[in-house]
Amino acid sequence: MLDIERNPSGLGAQIKGIDIAKPVSDQDFAAILSALGNSGVVCFPQQVIEAAQLKAFAGRFGTLEINVANAFYEPGHPEVMVLSNIVEDGKPIGLADAGQDWHTDMSYSREIAYANVLYAIKVPRRDGKALGRTEFADMRAAYDELPGDLKTRLADKTITHDFNKFWEHMRSQPGSRRPPLTEEQRRRKPPVSHPVFLTHPVTGRKTLYANPGYSIRINELSSQESDEILDFLFRHQLQAKFVHAHEWTEGDVLMWDNLCTLHNARPDYGPDEHRLIKRCQVMADKILNPAFVRTAFERAGSAVPH
Ligand SMILES: [Fe+2]
Repeated sequence: MLDIERNPSGLGAQIKGIDIAKPVSDQDFAAILSALGNSGVVCFPQQVIEAAQLKAFAGRFGTLEINVANAFYEPGHPEVMVLSNIVEDGKPIGLADAGQDWHTDMSYSREIAYANVLYAIKVPRRDGKALGRTEFADMRAAYDELPGDLKTRLADKTITHDFNKFWEHMRSQPGSRRPPLTEEQRRRKPPVSHPVFLTHPVTGRKTLYANPGYSIRINELSSQESDEILDFLFRHQLQAKFVHAHEWTEGDVLMWDNLCTLHNARPDYGPDEHRLIKRCQVMADKILNPAFVRTAFERAGSAVPH
């Protein structure tokens, strides 16, 4: 039986009573789906796992992304990406500047991402305090608190998301080693459109699916109206009342839901303050299939929670 402790704010939960290294039972799987939908971010503390076990756990939730083109990954496990600022023999062992500003993973992709599963192996600390926290913003609460007329106005609208927007933002940061995207890379990641609001497949709650990292245009509005409303949405969605920060501890397996949260990796540590995290990216192919969700809850002897 899982021990699930939800944060009073509604964003974030801690789940104990499970060993991620072992196969997850149908009951636990349904309970995690439910907790992730209800809390947006869940942490499984004190885990000890290998790359293959991280992959097996994450793979229950959907197809895992393989991004070998420009990523550091675990030998033999291209689904497991290495995030790190550690340099060995002059060579970086992981991607050092991943996700450093507010965004939603893969909103720029036709097939969007459902969840990320990260395993913390090394956490930088200064004066005993953990550095490199990851912040999350709750897009269910952000939707709920939008003015009613804006909810109505944007209900049938779509937003263009462009990979190049965040890439160029990262390139503009001091010390960035990212080259500009080539024509070929841009062709392989063309801008895509998604609805402004999504309905979460597990909870049935509406979420605001816009983010300052990749969203560039509300397609059905004039350029000026689009700029004004996006500017409003970006400020609205990052209000402190919607934000929860995760302070990392070694052994944390942290899982978040990209359908209903934004995240931001805080780069408040130096090159000699080492961080090592392994990550799987779960695509939304399965979770957006109603039969997958229904079957997951039926196997656990329960009904979809909404
Ligand atoms: Fe990210």
